Amino acid sequence: MDLHLKNKVVVITGAASGIGAASALTFAREGARVVVADVQNELGEKIVSQIKSENGEAFFVKCDVTSEADIKNLIAKTIEKFGRLDCAFNNAGIEGELSDTFSCTTENWQRTMDINLKGIWLCMKYEIPEMLKTGGGAIVNCSSVAGIVGFEGLPAYVASKHGVVGLTQTAALEFATKNIRVNAICPGVIDTPMVNRLTHGQESEKKDFIAGEPVGRMGKPEEMARVAVWLCSDASSFVTGHPLVADGGWVAR
Ligand SMILES: NC(=O)c1ccc[n+]([C@@H]2O[C@H](COP(=O)([O-])OP(=O)(O)OC[C@H]3O[C@@H](n4cnc5c(N)ncnc54)[C@H](O)[C@@H]3O)[C@@H](O)[C@H]2O)c1
Repeated sequence: MDLHLKNKVVVITGAASGIGAASALTFAREGARVVVADVQNELGEKIVSQIKSENGEAFFVKCDVTSEADIKNLIAKTIEKFGRLDCAFNNAGIEGELSDTFSCTTENWQRTMDINLKGIWLCMKYEIPEMLKTGGGAIVNCSSVAGIVGFEGLPAYVASKHGVVGLTQTAALEFATKNIRVNAICPGVIDTPMVNRLTHGQESEKKDFIAGEPVGRMGKPEEMARVAVWLCSDASSFVTGHPLVADGGWVAR
């Protein structure tokens, strides 16, 4: 199946690590021109080098998704270098602090909401006008299984990821007739630094996480990357406003 991503321009936030990094490489291998955005310079530049070593096209922009000025700059740099914006994977996110609803601090709540939810809204605020100029595009926002069901110990994270689903559906409806598709991806437990942090690098804690996965293993970042690529491609041309659960069966329980 030709995904028709050759020379398409894609912006990926949180692209220095985990799911975002795997997505940057996968988009590039499909021929897309990739803008790698993250707060982590060194790791971001490393992904760019890897893409270039495979004869792909990419560049890095330092961008904190909580900063409107940074996002404005990210999109401006994308247009300056590549001339257009076709796709976006708004993926940057944090897990926040583990705490129950009662002991969650205001600071943890605010920071998690700012990165995971406000960050996605800000990205779309600047991405959509560029897509309108060229007749359309595709946006994928990163939610989670925690955007579909509850998850003990992560109240701010769960609330932010549920918000991402509602925001995604709203933008999808608003721009459905303008040829801009907006979908969300809802990963299950994926083997990335985020899960390492949540499980304190302990194999025993990882096993507890995996126990929630009916398939009996964690997902790989590349498996999420392929979903994001599909949602950005013409292969999913009739799919919009959809929170796509890619979770090894987690929410089927
Ligand atoms: N790993 C999982 O099990 C899992 C499950 C469901 C959803 N997700 C979601 O997938 C996305 C990627 O997570 P991951 O697992 O790859 O984690 P990760 O920690 O490996 O990667 C997250 C990336 O986001 C970047 N980032 C953090 N704050 C940022 C900010 N303010 N501005 C720009 N970049 C920022 C980090 O520097 C990092 O490179 C997140 O939105 C996460 O919530 C992950």
